[in-house]
Amino acid sequence: MAKLDKFLTVDDFKCVAERRVPRMFFQYADSGAYTESSYRANGDDFARIKLEQRVGRDIAVRSLKTTMLGREVSLPLAIAPTGAAGMQAADGEIKAARAAEKAGIIWTMSTVSICSIEDVAAATSVPFWFQLYVRKDREFTNKLIDRARAAGCEALVVTVDCQHYGQRHKDVRNGLTVPIKFTPKFLAGLALKPRWALSMLGTRRHSFGNFVGHVLGASSAAALAQWMSQQDDLTLNWEDMPAIRKRFGGPLVVKGILHPDDARDAINHGADAIIVSNHGGRQLDGAPSTISVLPRIVDAVAGRCEIYLDSGVRSGHDMLKAVSLGAKAVFIGRPMLYGLGVAGEAGVTRVIDIIRAEADSALGLMGETDVTTLGAHNIHQPDPRFSDGV
Ligand SMILES: Cc1cc2nc3c(=O)[nH]c(=O)nc-3n(C[C@H](O)[C@H](O)[C@H](O)COP(=O)(O)O)c2cc1C
Repeated sequence: MAKLDKFLTVDDFKCVAERRVPRMFFQYADSGAYTESSYRANGDDFARIKLEQRVGRDIAVRSLKTTMLGREVSLPLAIAPTGAAGMQAADGEIKAARAAEKAGIIWTMSTVSICSIEDVAAATSVPFWFQLYVRKDREFTNKLIDRARAAGCEALVVTVDCQHYGQRHKDVRNGLTVPIKFTPKFLAGLALKPRWALSMLGTRRHSFGNFVGHVLGASSAAALAQWMSQQDDLTLNWEDMPAIRKRFGGPLVVKGILHPDDARDAINHGADAIIVSNHGGRQLDGAPSTISVLPRIVDAVAGRCEIYLDSGVRSGHDMLKAVSLGAKAVFIGRPMLYGLGVAGEAGVTRVIDIIRAEADSALGLMGETDVTTLGAHNIHQPDPRFSDGV
Protein backbone atom coordinates (compact mmCIF):
# COMPACT_ATOMS: atom_id res chain seq x y z
CA MET A 1 0.00 0.00 0.00
CA ALA A 2 1.37 3.40 -0.99
CA LYS A 3 2.10 5.76 1.88
CA LEU A 4 -0.79 8.05 1.19
CA ASP A 5 0.35 10.96 3.32
CA LYS A 6 3.17 11.37 0.78
CA PHE A 7 0.58 12.21 -1.88
CA LEU A 8 0.07 15.98 -1.77
CA THR A 9 -1.82 16.73 -4.98
CA VAL A 10 -4.26 15.09 -7.38
CA ASP A 11 -1.42 15.03 -9.88
CA ASP A 12 0.65 12.84 -7.54
CA PHE A 13 -2.17 10.30 -7.77
CA LYS A 14 -2.26 10.55 -11.55
CA CYS A 15 1.48 9.77 -11.83
CA VAL A 16 1.28 6.70 -9.60
CA ALA A 17 -2.01 5.47 -11.11
CA GLU A 18 -0.27 5.41 -14.48
CA ARG A 19 2.27 2.97 -13.05
CA ARG A 20 -0.26 0.78 -11.21
CA VAL A 21 -3.16 0.40 -13.64
CA PRO A 22 -2.83 -1.45 -16.98
CA ARG A 23 -2.15 1.07 -19.75
CA MET A 24 -5.44 0.31 -21.52
CA PHE A 25 -7.52 1.25 -18.47
CA PHE A 26 -5.37 4.14 -17.27
CA GLN A 27 -5.54 5.76 -20.71
CA TYR A 28 -9.28 5.07 -20.96
CA ALA A 29 -9.68 7.15 -17.79
CA ASP A 30 -7.12 9.78 -18.55
CA SER A 31 -7.68 10.70 -22.17
CA GLY A 32 -9.96 13.09 -24.01
CA ALA A 33 -11.62 13.05 -27.42
CA TYR A 34 -9.70 13.58 -30.69
CA THR A 35 -7.02 16.31 -30.20
CA GLU A 36 -7.92 16.62 -26.50
CA SER A 37 -8.18 20.42 -26.88
CA SER A 38 -11.26 20.72 -24.64
CA TYR A 39 -9.65 18.45 -22.06
CA ARG A 40 -6.66 20.82 -21.93
CA ALA A 41 -8.84 23.95 -21.98
CA ASN A 42 -10.66 22.77 -18.86
CA GLY A 43 -7.45 22.91 -16.83
CA ASP A 44 -5.90 25.92 -18.59
CA ASP A 45 -8.95 28.12 -18.00
CA PHE A 46 -9.09 27.29 -14.31
CA ALA A 47 -5.44 28.33 -14.06
CA ARG A 48 -6.19 31.74 -15.66
CA ILE A 49 -8.64 32.72 -12.93
CA LYS A 50 -7.18 34.52 -9.91
CA LEU A 51 -8.68 34.48 -6.46
CA GLU A 52 -8.95 37.70 -4.47
CA GLN A 53 -6.80 37.70 -1.34
CA ARG A 54 -8.26 39.64 1.60
CA VAL A 55 -6.61 40.15 4.99
CA GLY A 56 -7.28 41.68 8.36
CA ARG A 57 -10.30 39.50 9.09
CA ASP A 58 -11.04 36.91 11.76
CA ILE A 59 -10.83 33.60 9.92
CA ALA A 60 -10.43 31.34 12.95
CA VAL A 61 -13.65 29.39 12.37
CA ARG A 62 -14.34 28.30 8.80
CA SER A 63 -16.99 26.12 7.15
CA LEU A 64 -17.02 24.33 3.82
CA LYS A 65 -20.46 22.83 4.43
CA THR A 66 -23.24 23.37 1.93
CA THR A 67 -26.27 21.54 0.55
CA MET A 68 -26.97 19.78 -2.73
CA LEU A 69 -30.67 19.33 -3.50
CA GLY A 70 -31.41 19.59 0.19
CA ARG A 71 -28.77 17.15 1.44
CA GLU A 72 -26.08 18.62 3.66
CA VAL A 73 -22.60 17.84 2.33
CA SER A 74 -19.31 18.47 4.10
CA LEU A 75 -17.88 20.43 1.17
CA PRO A 76 -19.18 21.55 -2.24
CA LEU A 77 -17.73 18.48 -3.93
CA ALA A 78 -19.33 15.34 -5.37
CA ILE A 79 -18.11 12.33 -7.30
CA ALA A 80 -19.05 12.29 -10.99
CA PRO A 81 -20.38 9.17 -12.71
CA THR A 82 -17.59 7.34 -14.52
CA GLY A 83 -18.14 4.21 -16.56
CA ALA A 84 -16.14 1.10 -15.70
CA ALA A 85 -14.61 2.59 -12.54
CA GLY A 86 -14.40 -1.02 -11.43
CA MET A 87 -11.57 -1.52 -13.93
CA GLN A 88 -9.32 0.96 -12.11
CA ALA A 89 -9.64 -1.13 -8.95
CA ALA A 90 -11.60 -4.29 -8.22
CA ASP A 91 -15.14 -3.37 -7.09
CA GLY A 92 -14.13 0.25 -7.67
CA GLU A 93 -17.67 1.62 -7.51
CA ILE A 94 -18.24 0.18 -4.05
CA LYS A 95 -14.88 1.53 -2.86
CA ALA A 96 -15.52 5.02 -4.23
CA ALA A 97 -19.07 5.11 -2.87
CA ARG A 98 -17.82 4.13 0.59
CA ALA A 99 -15.12 6.81 0.50
CA ALA A 100 -17.71 9.43 -0.49
CA GLU A 101 -20.07 8.26 2.24
CA LYS A 102 -17.37 8.55 4.91
CA ALA A 103 -16.37 11.98 3.60
CA GLY A 104 -19.97 13.21 3.72
CA ILE A 105 -20.26 13.89 -0.01
CA ILE A 106 -22.42 12.53 -2.82
CA TRP A 107 -21.32 9.67 -5.06
CA THR A 108 -22.95 9.21 -8.46
CA MET A 109 -23.21 5.82 -10.13
CA SER A 110 -22.76 5.57 -13.90
CA THR A 111 -25.19 3.47 -15.93
CA VAL A 112 -22.12 1.64 -17.28
CA SER A 113 -20.63 0.71 -13.93
CA ILE A 114 -19.00 -2.63 -13.23
CA CYS A 115 -20.83 -3.06 -9.91
CA SER A 116 -24.62 -2.95 -10.18
CA ILE A 117 -27.01 -0.51 -8.52
CA GLU A 118 -28.01 -3.28 -6.11
CA ASP A 119 -24.36 -4.23 -5.34
CA VAL A 120 -23.55 -0.67 -4.26
CA ALA A 121 -26.82 -0.15 -2.39
CA ALA A 122 -26.09 -3.30 -0.36
CA ALA A 123 -22.55 -2.14 0.45
CA THR A 124 -23.38 1.43 1.53
CA SER A 125 -25.80 3.04 3.94
CA VAL A 126 -26.26 6.53 2.49
CA PRO A 127 -28.28 7.03 -0.70
CA PHE A 128 -26.32 7.81 -3.85
CA TRP A 129 -27.31 9.45 -7.13
CA PHE A 130 -27.83 7.43 -10.31
CA GLN A 131 -26.71 8.62 -13.74
CA LEU A 132 -28.86 7.49 -16.63
CA TYR A 133 -27.85 6.93 -20.24
CA VAL A 134 -31.16 6.67 -22.07
CA ARG A 135 -31.01 3.53 -24.21
CA LYS A 136 -32.93 2.90 -27.42
CA ASP A 137 -34.64 0.09 -25.59
CA ARG A 138 -36.90 2.36 -23.54
CA GLU A 139 -38.33 -0.59 -21.64
CA PHE A 140 -34.82 -1.41 -20.39
CA THR A 141 -34.26 2.30 -19.65
CA ASN A 142 -37.47 2.40 -17.61
CA LYS A 143 -36.37 -0.66 -15.66
CA LEU A 144 -33.08 1.05 -14.84
CA ILE A 145 -34.99 4.06 -13.52
CA ASP A 146 -37.21 1.77 -11.44
CA ARG A 147 -34.16 -0.07 -10.07
CA ALA A 148 -32.53 3.23 -9.10
CA ARG A 149 -35.67 4.33 -7.31
CA ALA A 150 -36.05 0.94 -5.57
CA ALA A 151 -32.42 1.17 -4.38
CA GLY A 152 -33.21 4.53 -2.77
CA CYS A 153 -31.20 6.72 -5.15
CA GLU A 154 -31.78 10.32 -4.20
CA ALA A 155 -31.53 11.95 -7.63
CA LEU A 156 -31.51 10.88 -11.26
CA VAL A 157 -28.74 12.43 -13.36
CA VAL A 158 -29.63 12.28 -17.05
CA THR A 159 -26.58 12.76 -19.29
CA VAL A 160 -27.43 14.60 -22.49
CA ASP A 161 -24.03 15.12 -24.13
CA CYS A 162 -23.25 11.52 -24.99
CA GLN A 163 -25.71 10.37 -27.63
CA HIS A 164 -22.80 10.12 -30.06
CA TYR A 165 -19.36 9.13 -28.83
CA GLY A 166 -16.37 11.43 -29.20
CA GLN A 167 -13.55 9.10 -30.21
CA ARG A 168 -10.59 8.72 -27.91
CA HIS A 169 -7.71 7.71 -30.16
CA LYS A 170 -5.82 6.02 -27.31
CA ASP A 171 -8.71 3.62 -26.72
CA VAL A 172 -8.70 2.63 -30.38
CA ARG A 173 -4.92 2.22 -30.43
CA ASN A 174 -5.00 0.17 -27.22
CA GLY A 175 -7.67 -2.11 -28.70
CA LEU A 176 -10.13 -1.33 -25.89
CA THR A 177 -13.26 -3.31 -26.71
CA VAL A 178 -16.37 -4.60 -24.97
CA PRO A 179 -16.00 -7.42 -24.04
CA ILE A 180 -12.26 -7.20 -23.47
CA LYS A 181 -10.22 -9.26 -25.93
CA PHE A 182 -7.51 -11.19 -24.12
CA THR A 183 -4.87 -10.57 -26.79
CA PRO A 184 -1.21 -11.48 -26.15
CA LYS A 185 -0.48 -7.72 -25.89
CA PHE A 186 -3.17 -7.25 -23.23
CA LEU A 187 -2.00 -10.29 -21.25
CA ALA A 188 1.62 -9.13 -21.47
CA GLY A 189 0.49 -5.75 -20.10
CA LEU A 190 -1.18 -7.50 -17.16
CA ALA A 191 2.05 -9.26 -16.28
CA LEU A 192 3.54 -5.82 -15.64
CA LYS A 193 0.74 -4.95 -13.18
CA PRO A 194 0.57 -8.02 -10.94
CA ARG A 195 -1.06 -6.20 -8.00
CA TRP A 196 -3.90 -5.00 -10.19
CA ALA A 197 -4.29 -8.42 -11.84
CA LEU A 198 -4.34 -10.23 -8.48
CA SER A 199 -6.95 -7.89 -7.03
CA MET A 200 -9.15 -8.43 -10.10
CA LEU A 201 -8.98 -12.18 -9.52
CA GLY A 202 -10.54 -11.53 -6.12
CA THR A 203 -13.84 -10.22 -7.51
CA ARG A 204 -16.53 -11.77 -9.65
CA ARG A 205 -17.46 -8.38 -11.08
CA HIS A 206 -15.79 -7.85 -14.46
CA SER A 207 -18.63 -6.77 -16.73
CA PHE A 208 -21.32 -4.09 -16.74
CA GLY A 209 -23.30 -4.94 -13.62
CA ASN A 210 -26.41 -2.94 -14.51
CA PHE A 211 -26.78 -4.90 -17.76
CA VAL A 212 -25.61 -8.44 -16.97
CA GLY A 213 -28.67 -10.59 -16.37
CA HIS A 214 -31.04 -7.72 -17.18
CA VAL A 215 -30.88 -7.72 -20.98
CA LEU A 216 -33.30 -10.26 -22.38
CA GLY A 217 -31.68 -12.79 -24.70
CA ALA A 218 -28.10 -11.70 -23.95
CA SER A 219 -26.78 -14.82 -22.30
CA SER A 220 -23.12 -14.34 -23.26
CA ALA A 221 -20.69 -11.43 -22.90
CA ALA A 222 -20.50 -11.18 -26.70
CA ALA A 223 -24.31 -11.00 -27.05
CA LEU A 224 -24.47 -8.33 -24.35
CA ALA A 225 -21.75 -6.30 -26.07
CA GLN A 226 -23.57 -6.61 -29.39
CA TRP A 227 -26.81 -5.37 -27.76
CA MET A 228 -25.05 -2.48 -26.00
CA SER A 229 -23.36 -1.33 -29.21
CA GLN A 230 -26.77 -0.81 -30.84
CA GLN A 231 -28.34 1.13 -28.00
CA ASP A 232 -27.33 4.77 -28.52
CA ASP A 233 -30.60 6.67 -28.75
CA LEU A 234 -30.05 9.62 -31.07
CA THR A 235 -33.69 10.67 -30.73
CA LEU A 236 -33.37 11.70 -27.07
CA ASN A 237 -34.59 15.29 -26.69
CA TRP A 238 -36.08 17.74 -24.18
CA GLU A 239 -39.60 16.37 -24.65
CA ASP A 240 -38.43 13.09 -23.07
CA MET A 241 -37.44 14.73 -19.79
CA PRO A 242 -40.80 15.21 -18.05
CA ALA A 243 -41.69 11.51 -18.46
CA ILE A 244 -38.27 10.44 -17.18
CA ARG A 245 -38.64 12.72 -14.18
CA LYS A 246 -42.17 11.49 -13.50
CA ARG A 247 -41.13 7.84 -13.67
CA PHE A 248 -38.25 8.39 -11.23
CA GLY A 249 -40.42 10.44 -8.90
CA GLY A 250 -37.51 12.43 -7.43
CA PRO A 251 -35.19 15.25 -8.44
CA LEU A 252 -33.88 15.36 -12.02
CA VAL A 253 -30.35 16.58 -12.70
CA VAL A 254 -29.44 17.27 -16.34
CA LYS A 255 -25.74 16.72 -17.06
CA GLY A 256 -23.85 18.07 -20.06
CA ILE A 257 -24.96 21.70 -20.34
CA LEU A 258 -22.61 24.23 -21.99
CA HIS A 259 -25.05 26.78 -23.47
CA PRO A 260 -27.33 29.23 -21.62
CA ASP A 261 -30.32 28.36 -23.86
CA ASP A 262 -29.88 24.66 -23.06
CA ALA A 263 -29.84 25.53 -19.37
CA ARG A 264 -33.17 27.32 -19.81
CA ASP A 265 -34.58 24.38 -21.79
CA ALA A 266 -33.48 21.93 -19.12
CA ILE A 267 -35.30 23.93 -16.45
CA ASN A 268 -38.39 24.33 -18.61
CA HIS A 269 -38.51 20.53 -18.99
CA GLY A 270 -38.27 19.73 -15.30
CA ALA A 271 -34.60 19.91 -14.24
CA ASP A 272 -34.09 20.53 -10.53
CA ALA A 273 -30.39 21.03 -11.15
CA ILE A 274 -27.96 21.10 -14.06
CA ILE A 275 -24.35 20.07 -14.38
CA VAL A 276 -22.26 22.36 -16.57
CA SER A 277 -20.04 19.71 -18.15
CA ASN A 278 -18.15 18.87 -21.32
CA HIS A 279 -17.76 15.28 -20.10
CA GLY A 280 -14.19 16.02 -19.06
CA GLY A 281 -13.29 16.87 -22.68
CA ARG A 282 -14.31 13.40 -23.82
CA GLN A 283 -17.10 14.34 -26.21
CA LEU A 284 -17.10 17.46 -28.47
CA ASP A 285 -13.46 18.28 -29.04
CA GLY A 286 -13.29 22.07 -29.43
CA ALA A 287 -16.14 22.68 -27.00
CA PRO A 288 -15.36 25.46 -24.50
CA SER A 289 -14.06 24.80 -21.03
CA THR A 290 -16.80 24.58 -18.45
CA ILE A 291 -15.46 27.32 -16.18
CA SER A 292 -15.45 29.76 -19.14
CA VAL A 293 -19.17 29.26 -19.83
CA LEU A 294 -20.31 29.14 -16.22
CA PRO A 295 -20.96 32.88 -15.69
CA ARG A 296 -23.31 33.18 -18.68
CA ILE A 297 -25.19 30.06 -17.61
CA VAL A 298 -25.53 31.42 -14.07
CA ASP A 299 -27.08 34.60 -15.54
CA ALA A 300 -29.48 32.61 -17.73
CA VAL A 301 -30.61 30.36 -14.88
CA ALA A 302 -31.19 33.33 -12.58
CA GLY A 303 -31.54 31.20 -9.46
CA ARG A 304 -34.23 28.88 -10.85
CA CYS A 305 -32.24 25.68 -10.18
CA GLU A 306 -29.00 24.54 -8.62
CA ILE A 307 -25.97 24.67 -10.89
CA TYR A 308 -23.05 22.28 -10.54
CA LEU A 309 -19.90 22.11 -12.65
CA ASP A 310 -17.41 19.44 -13.60
CA SER A 311 -14.49 18.98 -16.00
CA GLY A 312 -11.00 20.00 -14.99
CA VAL A 313 -11.44 20.42 -11.23
CA ARG A 314 -8.14 19.29 -9.72
CA SER A 315 -7.86 21.18 -6.45
CA GLY A 316 -9.69 22.94 -3.67
CA HIS A 317 -8.69 26.19 -5.34
CA ASP A 318 -10.49 25.17 -8.55
CA MET A 319 -13.51 24.25 -6.47
CA LEU A 320 -13.61 27.69 -4.82
CA LYS A 321 -13.20 29.42 -8.19
CA ALA A 322 -16.24 27.59 -9.54
CA VAL A 323 -18.28 28.29 -6.40
CA SER A 324 -17.31 31.98 -6.49
CA LEU A 325 -18.53 32.12 -10.09
CA GLY A 326 -21.92 30.68 -9.15
CA ALA A 327 -21.69 26.89 -8.99
CA LYS A 328 -23.33 25.39 -5.92
CA ALA A 329 -20.83 22.51 -6.03
CA VAL A 330 -18.38 20.73 -8.34
CA PHE A 331 -17.96 17.11 -9.38
CA ILE A 332 -14.69 15.26 -9.95
CA GLY A 333 -14.25 12.34 -12.34
CA ARG A 334 -10.62 11.50 -13.07
CA PRO A 335 -9.22 12.55 -9.68
CA MET A 336 -11.42 9.89 -8.09
CA LEU A 337 -10.33 7.32 -10.68
CA TYR A 338 -6.64 8.07 -10.04
CA GLY A 339 -7.28 7.62 -6.31
CA LEU A 340 -8.97 4.27 -6.97
CA GLY A 341 -6.11 3.12 -9.19
CA VAL A 342 -3.51 3.93 -6.55
CA ALA A 343 -5.15 2.63 -3.39
CA GLY A 344 -8.86 1.86 -3.81
CA GLU A 345 -11.11 3.34 -1.13
CA ALA A 346 -8.19 4.82 0.83
CA GLY A 347 -6.93 6.50 -2.34
CA VAL A 348 -10.29 8.16 -3.01
CA THR A 349 -10.48 9.25 0.63
CA ARG A 350 -7.04 10.85 0.37
CA VAL A 351 -8.00 12.67 -2.87
CA ILE A 352 -11.08 14.12 -1.16
CA ASP A 353 -9.03 15.08 1.91
CA ILE A 354 -6.44 16.87 -0.23
CA ILE A 355 -9.15 18.92 -1.97
CA ARG A 356 -10.79 19.66 1.39
CA ALA A 357 -7.53 20.85 2.96
CA GLU A 358 -6.65 23.01 -0.04
CA ALA A 359 -10.10 24.61 0.02
CA ASP A 360 -10.01 25.22 3.75
CA SER A 361 -6.64 26.95 3.49
CA ALA A 362 -7.67 29.01 0.44
CA LEU A 363 -10.96 30.04 2.04
CA GLY A 364 -9.10 31.54 4.99
CA LEU A 365 -6.49 33.24 2.81
CA MET A 366 -9.33 34.79 0.80
CA GLY A 367 -10.49 36.30 4.09
CA GLU A 368 -13.66 34.22 4.08
CA THR A 369 -15.14 31.85 6.63
CA ASP A 370 -18.21 30.33 4.93
CA VAL A 371 -18.13 28.74 1.49
CA THR A 372 -21.82 29.48 0.91
CA THR A 373 -21.17 33.23 0.92
CA LEU A 374 -18.58 33.23 -1.89
CA GLY A 375 -19.39 35.26 -4.98
CA ALA A 376 -18.01 37.34 -7.82
CA HIS A 377 -16.24 39.58 -5.29
CA ASN A 378 -13.86 36.69 -4.57
CA ILE A 379 -12.57 36.62 -8.15
CA HIS A 380 -9.74 39.03 -8.89
CA GLN A 381 -10.48 41.44 -11.73
CA PRO A 382 -7.28 41.70 -13.76
CA ASP A 383 -5.59 44.99 -14.57
CA PRO A 384 -5.18 44.97 -18.39
CA ARG A 385 -1.75 46.62 -18.11
CA PHE A 386 -0.22 43.40 -16.77
CA SER A 387 -0.04 40.14 -18.67
CA ASP A 388 -0.21 37.89 -15.64
CA GLY A 389 -3.45 39.54 -14.68
CA VAL A 390 -5.16 37.68 -17.55
C1 LIG B 1 -13.28 7.28 -17.52
C2 LIG B 1 -14.50 8.18 -17.54
C3 LIG B 1 -15.73 7.60 -17.71
C4 LIG B 1 -16.87 8.42 -17.70
N1 LIG B 1 -18.10 7.83 -17.80
C5 LIG B 1 -19.20 8.60 -17.70
C6 LIG B 1 -20.49 8.01 -17.65
O1 LIG B 1 -20.64 6.79 -17.66
N2 LIG B 1 -21.56 8.83 -17.57
C7 LIG B 1 -21.43 10.19 -17.53
O2 LIG B 1 -22.43 10.90 -17.46
N3 LIG B 1 -20.23 10.76 -17.54
C8 LIG B 1 -19.11 10.02 -17.60
N4 LIG B 1 -17.88 10.60 -17.58
C9 LIG B 1 -17.77 12.05 -17.42
C10 LIG B 1 -17.73 12.41 -15.95
O3 LIG B 1 -18.97 12.21 -15.34
C11 LIG B 1 -17.36 13.90 -15.74
O4 LIG B 1 -18.18 14.69 -16.54
C12 LIG B 1 -15.90 14.17 -16.07
O5 LIG B 1 -15.07 13.11 -15.68
C13 LIG B 1 -15.46 15.44 -15.36
O6 LIG B 1 -14.18 15.80 -15.72
P1 LIG B 1 -12.86 15.45 -14.88
O7 LIG B 1 -12.56 14.02 -15.17
O8 LIG B 1 -11.87 16.39 -15.45
O9 LIG B 1 -13.17 15.69 -13.42
C14 LIG B 1 -16.74 9.83 -17.57
C15 LIG B 1 -15.47 10.39 -17.40
C16 LIG B 1 -14.35 9.57 -17.37
C17 LIG B 1 -13.02 10.20 -17.15
